Parts: sequence; structure tokens; C-alpha cells
Amino acid sequence: MDFPTVEVPLIGGRMLIALVGVIHVLISHGCAVGGSFFLVLLEYKSIRQKNERLNELAYRVARWFFILTTSVGALTGVGIWFTTNMFSPVGIGSLLRVFFWAWFVEWIVFVTEIGLVAVYYLSWYRMSRSAHLKLGIVYVVTSFQTLVIIVGILGFQLTPGKWLDSQTFWDGFFNPTYLPQLFSRTALSALLACGFSLFIFACLRGFRDVRSEFLRFSGAFLLVISPIYLFATFAYYQVLPARAESFISVALVTLQLTQYAQWSQAFFFVVVAGLFLFGLVLYFMQRTFAVLSVAPFLILICAVAQFERVREFARKPYVISDYLYSNGIGKAEAPFMSSVGAMRYSTWAWRGLDPGGGETELGHMLFRLECSTCHTYRGINGVFNKRAILSSEEATVQFLDNVQYSHPYMPPFAGTQEEKEALAKFLVEGATKK
Ligand code: HEC
Repeated sequence: MDFPTVEVPLIGGRMLIALVGVIHVLISHGCAVGGSFFLVLLEYKSIRQKNERLNELAYRVARWFFILTTSVGALTGVGIWFTTNMFSPVGIGSLLRVFFWAWFVEWIVFVTEIGLVAVYYLSWYRMSRSAHLKLGIVYVVTSFQTLVIIVGILGFQLTPGKWLDSQTFWDGFFNPTYLPQLFSRTALSALLACGFSLFIFACLRGFRDVRSEFLRFSGAFLLVISPIYLFATFAYYQVLPARAESFISVALVTLQLTQYAQWSQAFFFVVVAGLFLFGLVLYFMQRTFAVLSVAPFLILICAVAQFERVREFARKPYVISDYLYSNGIGKAEAPFMSSVGAMRYSTWAWRGLDPGGGETELGHMLFRLECSTCHTYRGINGVFNKRAILSSEEATVQFLDNVQYSHPYMPPFAGTQEEKEALAKFLVEGATKK
């Protein structure tokens, strides 16, 4: 844990990672992975029915998927690397040690995918229909491959499983949540792609003649995919470790509202059921109702953001379960840090510290090292707003003594008694100042 800390005012680094991450998920899943399934199937249908207009429609939708994947998708992909490296350098470092080659292969696959989406779109009218369709299939397989790899790494963070003992690559990669998460994300990608396509269709002019074919196709697509999504996501929920499951209520709605947590599962069910019903309407009536057609997908997007949040939260207080805490302190390191002192242990981070700053300055640095990954001062999850706990220095020291038991989603405080008192002083001063 020897990196300088970076703080983002008000929203915190965590939220910044989340914002970039969710945009990336929507584009990479919806346009790149799901988009490839959706488009190639639509192209296949148009060729089989010899429907030139439907083929042209697929081409026009492909244009947008191509643009979004290669711009927003690629940029936010880099953004994820950048933000996670800023706020979780040790976490990324640890993942790289395990998954270096997986990431390397992912990158090659990604470059190939970007090349293929470009060729797929740009060669639409320059190849024979059947050759173009074959190219499309290669594109589908390649973009699915990106998901196949990244899911191994994401799942590992939450459920490292046997890796904790064996420390072998394959045990980490094919971890207990691998398969259900892969199914769930694949189905989600397809649903998002359908939503984006319907939206693009609504914005395009001049395709009234193939409107009913297109809506019927989208309806059938929704009818097949939404049940798969529902079952895969519930299967995923079933394999979550018990500890993670007990946090989900906190993750979904923050501490004050935990009693409403069961609602969110019902909410998820209603969202997917809504998509299914919408699929029925499209399939049998070939009608969309302006607002109604966008609403289910907007809600799905909110559900995705929420799902990603839950998945991240369920891991707390770890970046890699049972191995590395969110603040970059190794589980095995923490007791050692408590005996030698956080200040002696993290020599780099202390360079900017004013030696004459006294206890409060020391406390501030400790906050930055151990708490600022998850807390801002007065913004999102602002620590100075937690006045009930920070009522006095004694109460705060007591809170820090037991934090990992009383609030198991927070890591233990790693440092000496003296450092604990300095942190308490800093926190109470901040909380009492207006
Ligand atoms: C892994 C992320 C994480 C880290 C690291 C972390 N916290 Fe928290 N903390 C949380 C979350 C999440 C909550 C609950 C927020 C809510 O109300 O929903 C919380 C709540 C709190 C509360 C209020 C508890 C209550 O019962 O109201 C205090 C005080 C607090 N944290 C202090 C700290 C201090 C001090 C540190 C550093 C030593 C720290 N936290 C480190 C995630 C973290």
C-alpha cells in the first residue's frame, strides 16, 4: 500500500469509477456484444427473406453501433483503466499479477473486435451477401469472447473461490460465479442491443415499409431473451457467497432504507416481466407506443446501474474478497501495519505531510489512506456527516476498535493506538465544524 492517494471532491473516486464503468457496460454490452448478435440475426433474416429493405435497415442500425463502440466504448474502456488505477492502484496491481495474460489476450481480442466492427459496417455493400454474413458471425464470436474473458476477472474479485488456497490462474478464472454471470451478462447484452435498436429505429426516417417486420423480429428477440436473463440473474444471485448476500440489502439502498431491500428483487422481476410483455406487444401487434417503448429500456438501464453497484458493494470491504481490502491494504498486511504503524509502513504517501502539522494532520493523512476510497468529507458518503457515530473522540476510537465487526462492509482500522486517536481527533473536529 504505497501509492499516493487521489481524492475527488463531493462525489468521491468510487462514484467516478462507477459513472465511467456504467457507461462502458452499456456500450460494450449493448452495442458491441449484444449489437453483434442482434444485427447479424437481423441480417440473416433479411437475406433469408430476400428483403432488401430490411437489410438496409440493419445496415443503418449497424452504423450507430459502429460509431458508439469505436468512440464511447473505446474511450470509456481506457477511462476504466485510468480511474481504477488512480483510486485502486494496488487492486489493479494485484489483478494484473493474477490475470496479466488474460488481459493481454483480452486486448488482442478487443483490437480484433474493433477491426471487425469497422470492416463489418464498411464492407456491407462491397461483399457478397453470404460472405458478409460469415464475416458477421466471426464478429459475433469475437465480441462474445471479450465477455468470456472479462467475466472471469470480474467474478474473481467477488468470489476468488479456490484461488485463495491454490493461487492458480484457472482456479481464479473459473471461479464460482463465472458461468451464471456470463449467462446473465450475455442475455443482458442482447436485451440492451434490442432496446438501442428500437430507439435508433424510432429516430430513422423512411423505413415505414419494414416497420412491422422489424418490430416483429424485435418482439421475438425479447420473448426469447428476457426469460433467459431472468433465470440467469437469479442463478447468479443463488451462487453469491452468504456474506455478500447479507450486504446486498445495504448495497441496494444504503443503511437507512434496508428494510425496503426485498422490493428491489421484486423491482427486477417487474422490469424483466415488463420487457417480456413489451415483446408480446411487438410480436403480435407490431406496434410501439412512443413513450412506452423507451420506458422499459430506460428502466432496464437503471436496473443495470443498480446491479453493477450491488455487485461491487457485495464485495465490500474487499477489492478481492478475503485478500485485499478496498483501501488497498492486504488482509494479511493489516495486523502488521497495526503493530508497526501505518505511518512507518507507507513511506511514500507521507511525503507531502507537514511534519509540524500535529495530530490533526496525521489524522487527515490516515483518513486519506484508509477511508477516502469509500468516503468523501461532506459529499457522497461524507464522513463528516456521520455525526451520530463521531460524537466524541472516545466514541470514535471505540467505533474504530470494532468497525470490522459492527460494520462488516468496512475494513478494520490498520494502525497503532496513537494513530487511531489522531484519526478520531481529525474526524470529530471535522464533524463538529459546520
Ligand atoms: C470499503 C469502503 C469503506 C471504507 C474503506 C470505509 N468505509 Fe466507512 N462506510 C462505508 C459504507 C458503505 C458506509 C455506510 C453508508 C450508508 O449509510 O449507506 C460507511 C459508514 C461509515 C460511518 C457511519 C456508520 C453508521 O453506523 O452510521 C462512519 C463513521 C464511517 N463509515 C467511518 C469510516 C472511517 C473512519 C473509515 C477509515 C478508517 C472508513 N469508514 C472506511 C464504507 C467504507
